[in-house]
Amino acid sequence: MTCQLLIGDATEVLATLPAASVQCVITSPPYWNLRDYQCAGQIGLEDIPSAYIGRLVAVFREVRRVLRDDGTLWVNIGDTYCGYHGNSQCADEDAPSNKPGYVENMRATTVGVEGLKPKDLVGIPWMLAFALRADGWYLRSDIIWAKPNPMPESVTDRPTSSHEYLFLLSKSATYYYDAAAIAEDATRPDEPRLKQNGESAVDTKTRGYSTQCGTTTTRNKRDVWTIASQPYPGAHYAVMPAKLVEPCILAGTSPQACEHCGAPWARVTERVAAVAPASYNGSTFTRGKTVTPHANTGQGTRYEHGDTTGWRPTCTHDNEGMGQCVTLDPFFGSGTVGKVALSYGRSFVGIDIDPRNVELARHRIGPMLLDNPSATVPIRRVVDKQAATGNRTAAGFNERWDAKEAAI
Ligand SMILES: C[S@@+](CC[C@H](N)C(=O)[O-])C[C@H]1O[C@@H](n2cnc3c(N)ncnc32)[C@H](O)[C@@H]1O
Ligand SMILES: [Zn+2]
Repeated sequence: MTCQLLIGDATEVLATLPAASVQCVITSPPYWNLRDYQCAGQIGLEDIPSAYIGRLVAVFREVRRVLRDDGTLWVNIGDTYCGYHGNSQCADEDAPSNKPGYVENMRATTVGVEGLKPKDLVGIPWMLAFALRADGWYLRSDIIWAKPNPMPESVTDRPTSSHEYLFLLSKSATYYYDAAAIAEDATRPDEPRLKQNGESAVDTKTRGYSTQCGTTTTRNKRDVWTIASQPYPGAHYAVMPAKLVEPCILAGTSPQACEHCGAPWARVTERVAAVAPASYNGSTFTRGKTVTPHANTGQGTRYEHGDTTGWRPTCTHDNEGMGQCVTLDPFFGSGTVGKVALSYGRSFVGIDIDPRNVELARHRIGPMLLDNPSATVPIRRVVDKQAATGNRTAAGFNERWDAKEAAI
């Protein structure tokens, strides 16, 4: 595994990375006009949404260059209301932006932007999604991150906001996506299943599912993910919950890859077909899905992920699968994406413009390596040494870290 922490503006640092060197990009950019990271060159404080979107499109254009052709991009983005934020001008006294300690990180106002009235929902997520699609990305999914613990709002003339978006985009029409790795528990285990040759997969003696064709009790992951947001002390921005990152890592990267070109190995599963219940026929269930009418029953079928029978290379190299899939986050913050990537044995590259964040990330991630005696992880640390010796450094940490690196 390799871990890289890089300080600098995302577009500039990305330009130094090799083309097609990353398998999966997972990131949460600064939201528009929400926080002032107090760092020159930061994204998010542009006067108008189109300027903000333009800067993000430029970052993601460079991301597309470093992404492998079969790679995916997962972008978590939230929306903004047009209004006064952060100072005494805020009409809503109970707004979180008026709470002590919050003000310094907030922008004063988004009022006065052409085309936006105070109280308007700006629609940033879809502006970004459409702009990225127009720039060449394949827009593949809008995943709703539903928060059971949303930020309290005292509004009474609209519902409380309790979701954000996670867009799945790809560089090509076909790409690496391990659906079986993130399959959900099925809620309709009573549906009859069919083998690919059309025979029933149901064991008539036990009324259970035949082990010969896989005992699938899962379904394809759906696009509403309910995950509690996690406050993280020490960071002055929203930290992505690990649970939001995990499915992206698991679907977007393989546990192994070609040691020559980095092509991910693909899971080999035995496909099992389930008959779509009659009530579903002709409904939205079948629309746009890979459903073929079954020869014997005439009913539609849908395929489920059967048992994993192995892994296969996706390139033509003679290889042992000893390579690594690389994950990238160009807005690394406290390093959640790196932490989750590492916990699944994936390599990562993290970029952030603020050296204080890179230092924070280093202290979150470092112990995962230091405390694991078997972790012979080459770390290519590209961190401003001066910034990395701030007063948040735990006693002796730098020495132990340096010793670990020196030993590799
Ligand atoms: C929403 S936070 C990311 C949080 C991160 N996902 C986590 O879990 O900790 C956005 C980050 O983008 C960084 N940032 C802002 N402008 C940037 C730029 N031009 N280039 C790189 N990073 C930037 C900020 O410093 C901040 O850490
Ligand atoms: Zn290869």
